[in-house]
Amino acid sequence: MGVIKFLGLAALAAAAPLEQRAKKPKSFLKEVGNSTWIIGNEIWNVTQNRQYADQLWYKGKDRVGDAVGHYVSYNGAASDLNWTSAAIVDSDTDWINIKFTAREGDFHWVIYDDLPGAYQYFVNHNLPTLGEFRTLWRLDNASFPRGRTTIKDGVLPALEEYLGATNVQDETWQKADGTFLTKYDWSAFIREQDFYGVYGDEVGSWYMNPGKDYYNGDHLKQELMVHRESKTGDAVQLNMIHGTHYQAVSRDAFADGKVWGPWLWYLNDGSKDNAAQRAKKEEAAWPYKWFEDKAYQSRGKMQGKLVLSDGRPAAGAAVFLGDNNNASISTLDQGQGFYYTTYADKDGKFSIHDIRTGTYGLYAWGNGGSISDVTTNFTQNNIVIADNKNTNLKDLTWKVTDASKRIFQIGAFDRKTDGFKLSGPTPYEHGRITKCPGNLTYTVPTSKSEDWCFGQSALGTWRVNFPVENATTSAAKLTVSLAGFSQGSSADILLNGVQVGNITSASLLNSQDTYRGATRAGEWRLLEFPVTKEQLKVGGNVLDVRVTRTTVVRGWLWDSLVLEWV
Ligand SMILES: *[C@@H]1O[C@H](CO)[C@@H](O)[C@H](O)[C@H]1NC(C)=O
Ligand SMILES: *[C@@H]1O[C@H](CO)[C@@H](O)[C@H](O)[C@H]1NC(C)=O
Ligand SMILES: *[C@@H]1O[C@H](CO)[C@@H](O)[C@H](O)[C@H]1NC(C)=O
Ligand SMILES: *[C@@H]1O[C@H](CO)[C@@H](O)[C@H](O)[C@H]1NC(C)=O
Ligand SMILES: *[C@@H]1O[C@H](CO)[C@@H](O)[C@H](O)[C@H]1NC(C)=O
Ligand SMILES: *[C@@H]1O[C@H](CO)[C@@H](O)[C@H](O)[C@H]1NC(C)=O
Ligand SMILES: *[C@@H]1O[C@H](CO)[C@@H](O)[C@H](O)[C@H]1NC(C)=O
Ligand SMILES: *[C@@H]1O[C@H](CO)[C@@H](O)[C@H](O)[C@H]1NC(C)=O
Ligand SMILES: *[C@@H]1O[C@H](CO)[C@@H](O)[C@H](O)[C@H]1NC(C)=O
Repeated sequence: MGVIKFLGLAALAAAAPLEQRAKKPKSFLKEVGNSTWIIGNEIWNVTQNRQYADQLWYKGKDRVGDAVGHYVSYNGAASDLNWTSAAIVDSDTDWINIKFTAREGDFHWVIYDDLPGAYQYFVNHNLPTLGEFRTLWRLDNASFPRGRTTIKDGVLPALEEYLGATNVQDETWQKADGTFLTKYDWSAFIREQDFYGVYGDEVGSWYMNPGKDYYNGDHLKQELMVHRESKTGDAVQLNMIHGTHYQAVSRDAFADGKVWGPWLWYLNDGSKDNAAQRAKKEEAAWPYKWFEDKAYQSRGKMQGKLVLSDGRPAAGAAVFLGDNNNASISTLDQGQGFYYTTYADKDGKFSIHDIRTGTYGLYAWGNGGSISDVTTNFTQNNIVIADNKNTNLKDLTWKVTDASKRIFQIGAFDRKTDGFKLSGPTPYEHGRITKCPGNLTYTVPTSKSEDWCFGQSALGTWRVNFPVENATTSAAKLTVSLAGFSQGSSADILLNGVQVGNITSASLLNSQDTYRGATRAGEWRLLEFPVTKEQLKVGGNVLDVRVTRTTVVRGWLWDSLVLEWV
């Protein structure tokens, strides 16, 4: 058998009929009725119906039970895909590739004989323009009582807790003791996931998505990962391959043939250590050599060094490779193609490997540390990635403003609330924003980031007292950088009593971040307001951010507030 393993299929076929020589895979697809199929191997099997796979046999029990099972859907439950046919489209001695066909595209399960789980991928043919596209498991809650992401690990709240509580908004309940229950607690930064899923003492069901280049969005892209279904009690394991949970708009049209995945859906005995080991193995094996798809296999690499125009290295900068020439949407909202993220090192150097061939835009912005003062970002279009080639961009100059022109800055300019009061320890908590004060005073230069709160919503005024030391001969600019914004609260910004700007729903789209309990980041917004030289005076000045309208848990997450001469 060892010898046969190393022969190509063509060689085998020439020698004798395949069935006589080659070992046949034990993994199977069985059509058992009108639009009902059973797929699996000797370790597990799944019963797939027209929409839902409603049985998962593993370790002697059906692990779907009364739950909904497995499905693929877009834009909410009205659009769960309907499978019209299934076939084995490829196989070898120890695996099969099963394709389920729907009007919108094909969902594949690649099943190896010895694998508890399957590799899965989706090939688009006719998906509509959409924001949300996902595959998921809704599983038996007795088998899978717990959830695990890189941020949170614990027992999913029981359905019973929801039943006794009052719904206050979108999937959020208040309990009698005043605390909140919300599925959004189980969100995470999707590109930082090693593995995640639901598990118990007997079994675990995990997603491992190495590569992650088919996800929409940048480093700050967040998604709901697992949760308790609040009507049925199902244990839910989501695979949000295109999502909008913490965004304003992210709607994309996709090319026929766009592939999401393959990722691994992995079953085990519930051990997180075992899952962690498997995830490492998958990451090392990515991009998967077994996946016969020319575009998937065609990849190159890229490197470069970002240097700020004042000579400093762009230490730790966030580097994003995304849509070419698409300044109309934010890096978080890009999602029609393939996306790569990394961070520059302390010298500003960065590299990304295994990038799909194509032409990209390169974007960079500050991620705190020694470049926390940098308010500008870097963009270079027309970056060509060729198969098996290294694109060396060498030194790239990133234009920054003159640091000597800074009058004051509150908070690191990094698109996150990091450093502000209450910004941690976790990045999600419904209602934490209500713990930020209505009124506060920040005095330059003695106050620190911790004296400013991460989010603003309550009526009142956040006042900045700051000195201007020399005579003002030029105009200035006020930069308001928000890490997130949910419509419902508004503020006027006044300089020495005169309005110079505002934060309002009239000029900012709603995003689903602040009100869903995001406390670290959401959809980044940048507001810039001109200040005339007459509006500043030598000596003490006062800048007020005065909340004029409030809606509970709605408002904005602060990134940074900067005043500088121009
Ligand atoms: C199969 O089921 C569908 C509905 O689920 C029905 O419309 C169709 O007539 C059935 N076909 C056969 C051959 O039973
Ligand atoms: C699926 O697994 C169950 C439990 O091990 C087993 O009884 C059943 O025969 C399997 N189905 C198929 C089609 O192999
Ligand atoms: C699948 O079929 C059901 C009807 O059984 C329908 O309600 C649903 O919209 C269909 N899904 C899609 C994506 O068209
Ligand atoms: C599990 O789901 C059932 C409904 O199928 C529900 O009655 C039960 O409360 C759920 N258990 C938990 C812990 O939520
Ligand atoms: C930019 O991205 C949006 C969203 O995917 C898309 O609608 C638009 O066509 C893109 N523009 C360009 C120039 O690629
Ligand atoms: C870069 O900064 C400018 C403002 O200086 C902003 O309009 C733009 O959206 C930013 N670009 C990216 C890709 O973040
Ligand atoms: C903020 O200060 C104003 C004026 O002093 C006061 O009326 C208001 O109640 C304060 N708001 C809060 C939330 O403390
Ligand atoms: C003095 O003000 C000018 C603008 O009028 C500014 O460019 C300069 O950096 C300031 N110098 C100091 C030392 O603050
Ligand atoms: C509010 O700010 C927007 C820019 O963000 C500006 O267009 C508008 O004029 C401002 N309105 C007021 C009343 O200052």
